Parts: sequence; C-alpha cells; structure tokens
Amino acid sequence: MSSKLSTFICQNCGSETSQYFGKCLNCNSWNSIVEEIKIKRSKYQDPKDIKNSKKSIPFNEISSKKISRFTSGFKEIDRVLGGGIVPGSVVLLGGEPGIGKSTIVLQSAGKISLNEKVLYVTAEESLEQVKIRWERLNQNSNELKIFAETNLTLIMEEIKSVNPSFAIIDSIQAIHNHEMESSPGSVSQVRACSSELQNLAKNNNIALLIIGHVTKDGALAGPKTLEHLVDVVINFEGDKVSSHRLLRSIKNRFGSTFEIGIFEMLEKGLVEVKNPSSIFTNKENISGVTTTITNEGSRPFAVDIQALVNKTFYSNPRRTTTGISINRLHQILAVIEKHLGIKLSEFDCYIATGGGFEINDPSSDLGVAISILSSLKNLPPLASTSFIGELGLSGQVRKSNNLRTKIEEAVRMGIKNIVVPKLEEELNNNFQNLINIKEISNIKEAVDYSLSE
Ligand code: TYD
Ligand code: MG
Repeated sequence: MSSKLSTFICQNCGSETSQYFGKCLNCNSWNSIVEEIKIKRSKYQDPKDIKNSKKSIPFNEISSKKISRFTSGFKEIDRVLGGGIVPGSVVLLGGEPGIGKSTIVLQSAGKISLNEKVLYVTAEESLEQVKIRWERLNQNSNELKIFAETNLTLIMEEIKSVNPSFAIIDSIQAIHNHEMESSPGSVSQVRACSSELQNLAKNNNIALLIIGHVTKDGALAGPKTLEHLVDVVINFEGDKVSSHRLLRSIKNRFGSTFEIGIFEMLEKGLVEVKNPSSIFTNKENISGVTTTITNEGSRPFAVDIQALVNKTFYSNPRRTTTGISINRLHQILAVIEKHLGIKLSEFDCYIATGGGFEINDPSSDLGVAISILSSLKNLPPLASTSFIGELGLSGQVRKSNNLRTKIEEAVRMGIKNIVVPKLEEELNNNFQNLINIKEISNIKEAVDYSLSE
C-alpha cells in the first residue's frame, strides 16, 4: 500500500521541510528548495512479513571474519581504501566534473577485470564515448562489461544477471528511479537510488563504486545522506591547471581516513606518482622558502613553504594563505611578535605551499615561521634544511607525531640538516650518521641556528 506525499527538499544540503521557503533554514542558500513527491510505503503490514523478519542474536555467537580484499590495480587507490577493495562494500567517489573520475575508474575496472568480473554502468556517456576513452588508455581487459543505462530498475536487473565482483555506477546523479516524480540528480532521487543499490550490493556481496559529482563549494550533492549510507567516501581533487590529482579518503569503515594517493593526468590516462616529495619541493635556497615534512595518512611528504613579507600600504595589513589555514598563520604571526619582539603589524604576509598542497599537520608551523622571518630579513635560511615542529603559544616548539618517519623521508630526499623538537636519545642515535639533527626547544633557538647573518 502506498500514498503520495509532497515534501520540500533543499538541493544544496538535503534538509526537508513541509512547506516552501525562499531561503533554506538549514544552510541559508537561496532558491534551492524544490517540491518533491515522496511515495510512502508502509512496511511490514503483513503479519507474515513480521514473522519472517530477522531476529537479534547473542553478540558472542557472531563469527568473526577476516576482511578479504582484492586489488584495484593501483597501489595508490588500494592504500586510500585501506588495503584494497572489500567485497560487499559501497564506496562513494566524489569530485568536480572533469577532474578524471571516469578515467581513473575505467582504468581500474580494466585492471580488476583481468581477475574478477566487472560491470561498468555508464549513465552519462554512450558506449561509443567510453570506447573512445578506452582506446586512449591503451589497456587490457578480460571480464569487463559495459552497460549504458539511466533507469535504476534496469540497472539493478543487469547487476543481478551479470553478478559481478565489482560494479561501478557513473554517476549517481544521472540515474533515476521511475517510481519517483523528481528529476535525476535531485536529492530524493540520489538518496533513493543509492540506498536501493546499496541493498543490492550488500545482499549479493558485490563491491559497488558510486561516482558522485560535487557542488561548487565541495559538498557532495545530496550530501550528508549519501555519506553516512556508504562504507567509504573518497574524493578526487586537483587543480584544473596542474596535472596532479589527489585521491583523499574522507570516511573509511575499513581503514584510516587520512590516506591520500597521488596521480598525474597524462595523455594516456592517470599514472601513479611514486615519489610525491619531488613534486612539492624545488630544493632552492632562496629567502622566504623552507621545506617541512608533513604527514598525510601513513605517508610523510616533503613540501616547500613560501612566504612573502612586504611593507603594507593598507591600514590593515593583508594576510593570505594557500595550503595552510589563515587562522594558523595569524597564530604564528602573533607568536613571532610576542616572543621575538618583531613588529609585524606593518607588513603584509602571503604564504603558499609547494603546488598548493593542503597541509593539516601542525608540525609545519616552524617552517612557516622561518619562511616568514627569512622573507622579512631577505636572508635565505641555512641551505638544505627541513623544519619540523608545532609552535606553542609561549614560543616553545612542541613535539611532532611520527617524527621517525619524517626524518627518514628527509634522509631519503638527501636533505642535510633537520631542525626538530627535543628527541628521544634512541631516535637521535639512529640517524646520527645519516643527517645533521638540530634539536631546539623554542623559536628563538631555531632562528639563531638557521637564519644567522
Ligand atoms: P573525466 O574522467 O571525464 O572526468 P570526470 O569523470 O571526473 O568528469 O576526465 C576528463 C578530463 O581528463 C578531460 O579534461 C580530458 C582529460 N584526460 C586526459 O588528460 N588524459 C586521458 O587519457 C583522458 C582519458 C582524459
Ligand atoms: Mg565522468
């Protein structure tokens, strides 16, 4: 039995109201509310259904299974997924249009199909378009099937009949459930289609990858509802002008969330970047530039930090950042003012990381501070030196996590000196002949060591 209900859904944030508003009360966006007809089904009305429904079982009787995984064909993707693709899992791959989602997924589908059955559902492009892309990628495939369809029911039937190990939906915004009146891509369509596909995947132990476009401000369309529904959310990011692409995990029920994978878009598709540190550093010894080693997931990267400090012509000095948060910069400037007695209120300050790489690790603070002072004094810092350490509000340099792997990365990069917070003796002994380690306890010591005239 079903009845039709009218509901009003914000296409930006997915919140629901019972009446129309010009402005969403939840996310404050204008004209984003659309009326959608919802079909309400009452479940379990039949006593037979209730009798056959699942029962709770004692927790101790649940057998524990080791998660088995299969490879995506790319080490970078496997790492972001926590070690490979888990059968029966649902992965949501988000990214701006044109960033390379279809390309990477098709490349991966080809590689997986050499060992497993794969079904690629293309709802946005025709079979011929996919074939043209495929020819460009110059790859092999074996058990790879392509299905060009937008109707959810037909897609579900095809998945059931092919019964692949891995199925791809490209993209969720292009498919529709004909029982619903709203248009494809609307929040309620995206929600309903995803949840039906998810049930199908779980019941048949099929790993499912759903591609979703992101909106301008970076949120997945139909956002929060999709994110909590799926097991893994990964984002494909990058600058349109640069050829590098980052695969970042945002949520992962089977692994860590901070992993990133790095690719480069070439003429013949995406290739993995084996030595990421080399693309974010220039190894120059000029004023205003330092190198820090930051941890993203389980991997350390060397990244340049550039600063430009100039006398200001404005009543309020300008402060802008690319790659680190503006609040972090304000805090570092305040520490320099207070503890080194340098008046920075008369200077504009611009910070940019190498390649615009987004750094979230607070141990980059010391590198930012030394870059600022180096630009201010117009003096290059000590050559071939990396700076690691979080700046405390009292000017002290605080401990950094994963220091061992960071120092190892500096050694691998051929960096000669590394400025770090106080180390345990054992760590210091380990690296004694490999790199010159300078331990410091506050910002003044770091400046005296690396910026003396
Ligand atoms: P695409 O995978 O279609 O993006 P999405 O699915 O995220 O919308 O990527 C399209 C872009 O990638 C397009 O601008 C062309 C570029 N590209 C290459 O540079 N090399 C290639 O081998 C391929 C297939 C695409
Ligand atoms: Mg695409």
